[in-house]
Amino acid sequence: MLRDRRILLAVTGGVAAYKAVYLARRLLERGAEIEVIMTEAARRFVGEQTFAAISGRPVSTDLFGSSRVSPHTELAGWAEVIVVAPATAATMARLAAGLSEDLVTATLLASEAPVLLAPAMHTEMWQHPATQRNVERLKADGHQFIGPAEGSLAGGDEGPGRMIEPDEIVAAVEAILTGPLKGWRVLVSAGGTREPIDPVRYIGNRSSGKMGYAIASVAAARGADVLLVTSSTLPPPAGVELFRVETAEEMAAQVWNLAPGVDVAVLTAAVADFRPAKEIDSKLRRRDGVPELVLESTPDILAGVAALDDRPFLVGFAAETGSLDGARRKAMEKGVDLLVANDVSEPGSGFGTETNRVTIIRPDGASDEWPLLDKRQVADRLWDLVAQIRQS
Ligand SMILES: Cc1cc2nc3c(=O)[nH]c(=O)nc-3n(C[C@H](O)[C@H](O)[C@H](O)COP(=O)(O)O)c2cc1C
Repeated sequence: MLRDRRILLAVTGGVAAYKAVYLARRLLERGAEIEVIMTEAARRFVGEQTFAAISGRPVSTDLFGSSRVSPHTELAGWAEVIVVAPATAATMARLAAGLSEDLVTATLLASEAPVLLAPAMHTEMWQHPATQRNVERLKADGHQFIGPAEGSLAGGDEGPGRMIEPDEIVAAVEAILTGPLKGWRVLVSAGGTREPIDPVRYIGNRSSGKMGYAIASVAAARGADVLLVTSSTLPPPAGVELFRVETAEEMAAQVWNLAPGVDVAVLTAAVADFRPAKEIDSKLRRRDGVPELVLESTPDILAGVAALDDRPFLVGFAAETGSLDGARRKAMEKGVDLLVANDVSEPGSGFGTETNRVTIIRPDGASDEWPLLDKRQVADRLWDLVAQIRQS
């Protein structure tokens, strides 16, 4: 049920806008409170009066000239979830670019509520590289998508692009609002650390932070409170609390500080195992000859969290090259609940790629190989698994 849940329905200008009328009706029948906002183009397809009559509230269509002083921020703050249905290619492009000239995109930009987009358009528009780029961007920003489905489209065409049926959208909204990670406090570490040699050079690694960001983003979209400790410079996913660090030492301090208060810690960061024992104060020069670097061990962050008295459910990551024997040993010896191992030397897997092929290893050594997946799909499956284990 959606009793008294506050849902903002944003209708944009596609033929499927007529289905949004039924969607509004179904949300109300489930007990939700709804407000409807529309783009100028949407009003060409369905009159705002129809939505007003169904919802019993006036429909907002303009940033300026409304009875509200600041309609976008008021609606953004009011909504527990925003559903964009149908979501046009144009609205998605504006949102992906951060443009906010109209009420719908300004409200979306002003809100921290989860956003569910239900795209609808002709197959060619959906498959256009620009649309696909925007969809990827929006997913990386933490927005959730439902559909489009494949089927008959306006004008008698067939193919992917049809808006998903309203009842499925209602079910997705229910899943977001009563999602399995609601009330969970989650800590994620991401990125590769940098260990200074001198003021301009460092020892680093090739980790981009993409896997950790996908894990943080999916957890936030499923309702968790997410703390992201990161050394990556990627733009942060929506709805997470960010802690920037650079070195293994800083990451250890931040993770150890936050870990006692969380339910789940997923440590994806590629932390340096060794660092220069001494940072040199001024830039090393060629004329002074080849320097000799003496290395020392960095703190073992995973072991530190595993050793906490009241430790969180702990997921470790292990980047290996070749055999996963080292990861298997780590899973059995480090006190983790799950270890996610990947061979970073395999094409399409590991550092900087959009995809990953991982093996999930349990503390008893049992393992499960997942196929090559988009990093977001890996994150989705990982949270499904963690939720299943924690609830069993
Ligand atoms: C008859 C007709 C049907 C359209 N259907 C769609 C559609 O299903 N999906 C879409 O993305 N754009 C569709 N468009 C184009 C959008 O209406 C147009 O890009 C508009 O600028 C979208 O504005 P909005 O995103 O602010 O609502 C259609 C246009 C017309 C004239």
